[in-house]
Amino acid sequence: MAEAIRVRDLRKNYGDVQALDGLSLTVEEGEFFGLLGPNGAGKTTFINVLVGLVRETGGEAEVFGFDVETDYREARDRIGLAPQEFNVDRFFPIREVLCHKAGYHGIDHEEAQRRADEALKTVGIYEKRDTRFDWLSGGMKRRFMLARALVSDPELLILDEPTAGVDVQLRHDLWDIINRMNDEGTTILLTTHYIEEAERLCDRVAIVDSGRKVEVASPDELMSRGTDTVDVGLADPPTVAPTFDYDGVVESRMAEGRLEVVTSRGGALVPDLLRDLEAMGHEVTDLDIRRASLEEVFVDMTRTDSSVGGSSEAEEVVQ
Ligand SMILES: Nc1ncnc2c1ncn2[C@@H]1O[C@H](COP(=O)(O)OP(=O)(O)O)[C@@H](O)[C@H]1O
Ligand SMILES: [Mg+2]
Repeated sequence: MAEAIRVRDLRKNYGDVQALDGLSLTVEEGEFFGLLGPNGAGKTTFINVLVGLVRETGGEAEVFGFDVETDYREARDRIGLAPQEFNVDRFFPIREVLCHKAGYHGIDHEEAQRRADEALKTVGIYEKRDTRFDWLSGGMKRRFMLARALVSDPELLILDEPTAGVDVQLRHDLWDIINRMNDEGTTILLTTHYIEEAERLCDRVAIVDSGRKVEVASPDELMSRGTDTVDVGLADPPTVAPTFDYDGVVESRMAEGRLEVVTSRGGALVPDLLRDLEAMGHEVTDLDIRRASLEEVFVDMTRTDSSVGGSSEAEEVVQ
């Protein structure tokens, strides 16, 4: 068994807007799974369906085998959610907020207090336990959102853009905490538009656009589908790039006095390239291979897929 999330042909319409348009995907138990997509792709809507905040228009969604509508309680109690927007009761000390949250999941008062303290320690704001949410700094608010997601000791931790707008230090801290959770067996579903975040953390990522899945693969597999650039220094660089007439060469060009050969074959092309350059009378001084980044592959995939609408939006959010 061991499927943490299983959705089939999931649909959600808001009036004329199809926020989810037949999304199907499976997340295995224990996986660190990323959902990548431009703004408006439907990521938050998907999460809201999983936690019962939004009713699906069609299709099926299960969490650990429990239907998110007909078995709402069973499904919801297994999920800890750190939502994209802060939705916190601002007037109570944060420790109390956590106790309430644990209580909501059926945890008794004493145990709730123990969990609240533990969660606050995990995210590093235990000393702020008697402070109201309002009075926390921006970074501490982010930490608190994670603590609230952890307080019910969830089997599935869902993080909706958990590091949006946080500084580098906090981002790395949050990554460490989330990674530890995953090492201890918690399944993670993370949405992000920081491609580097997905590249570093996720076992697999789904690229979603316009409410549909475009692709699912490991970051490595996705990157291997992009083109690589072989960057060659030549002792006496020509003004016009030499051409190579074998497989795998996408483009050959001169850039700032260096030869750049864009290839779908990566480093495998280098022996041929060196041999041909030598035959042409060029002396190679150095050589570097630049791999396609996940970001480039992502932009390519979402650009072609959203050519009907929203491609400018897709580019805007990739930073
Ligand atoms: N409550 C709502 N009412 C109307 N439209 C909505 C609502 N929530 C989301 N949408 C629309 O659904 C689409 C998907 O939004 P969302 O799920 O928030 O995407 P993402 O999280 O990937 O940025 C967008 O076009 C958005 O404007
Ligand atoms: Mg969102």
